[in-house]
Amino acid sequence: MRVVDLGCGTGRLTYRLHRELQASTTLGIDRSSRMLAAAVAEAATDGVRFEQRDIAAFPRHGEQVDLIFSNAALHWVDDHVALFARLASALTPDGQLAVQMPAMYDDPSHVVAMELSDVEPFRSAFGEWRRSQPVLAPEAYARLLFQLGFRDPAVRLIVYPHVLSGPDAVVEWMKGTLLAEYSRHLPPDLFGAFVDEYRRRLLERIEPARPFFFPFKRILIWGQRSA
Ligand SMILES: C[S@@+](CC[C@H](N)C(=O)[O-])C[C@H]1O[C@@H](n2cnc3c(N)ncnc32)[C@H](O)[C@@H]1O
Repeated sequence: MRVVDLGCGTGRLTYRLHRELQASTTLGIDRSSRMLAAAVAEAATDGVRFEQRDIAAFPRHGEQVDLIFSNAALHWVDDHVALFARLASALTPDGQLAVQMPAMYDDPSHVVAMELSDVEPFRSAFGEWRRSQPVLAPEAYARLLFQLGFRDPAVRLIVYPHVLSGPDAVVEWMKGTLLAEYSRHLPPDLFGAFVDEYRRRLLERIEPARPFFFPFKRILIWGQRSA
C-alpha cells in the first residue's frame, strides 16, 4: 500500500499508520517546517518520508496512492467540494480515503467569534479578511463521496464529551485554537478587546454550569473508490 498523510504534523500518526498497515511507502505532507522538523527527528523508518507542501496543491500531476489519510487538518483547506474531487483523483482504483476533522462551525464558541468579525471596531481592522469555514454537513460529504465514485461511503458525526471546570474554560481553550487565527489579523491591543467581548457574549450564550459539559463534534469519513 502507498499511503499519504495530509497535514501530518509531527508525524506521530504517519509512523504508526506505516507500521500498522505495513505500507510500502508513506508520505507525510505538512506546510509547517516546525512540525516537519519534529517528524524528521523521529527514528527513520524505511519507506516513510516527509515533504513541506500545501494540501491545497495535492496531488501533483500523476501522483497516485492507495490510501489518503488526514487527521485534524482538512478543516484548514478551503472549498471542500473541489478538495475532495482532487483527493478522489489521486486514488488508485479501490483506493481509500480516511479523514477526521472537527465540525464545530455551528457551536456558540465558533458562531460568536464569526459574529464579532462584523462588529466595529473589529470589522474595520479585519478589512477583507473573514475566517473561512469550509467544513460541510456530514450528509454533504456522504453525497459528495458517492458522486465522486465511492461505493458505500461511511460518514459519522461523533460528539466527544469534554468536562471543563466551567464556561470560562471554553474561552481559554479557544484562545489556543480558534482565536489564535483571529489574533493574526488584529493588532495586540485590539485582539485583547476582541477576546474580552468574545468572552462576554459567549458566557451570555452558554450554560453557567460547573463543571461545564463541552460537546466537541468531529466528522469521520471513510470511503473506497469503485474500481
Ligand atoms: C492539528 S494538526 C494535526 C497533525 C496530525 N495530523 C495529528 O493528528 O497529529 C494540523 C496540521 O495540519 C497542518 N496544515 C494545516 N493546513 C495545512 C495545509 N493547507 N497544507 C499542509 N498542512 C496543513 C498544520 O501545519 C498542522 O501540522
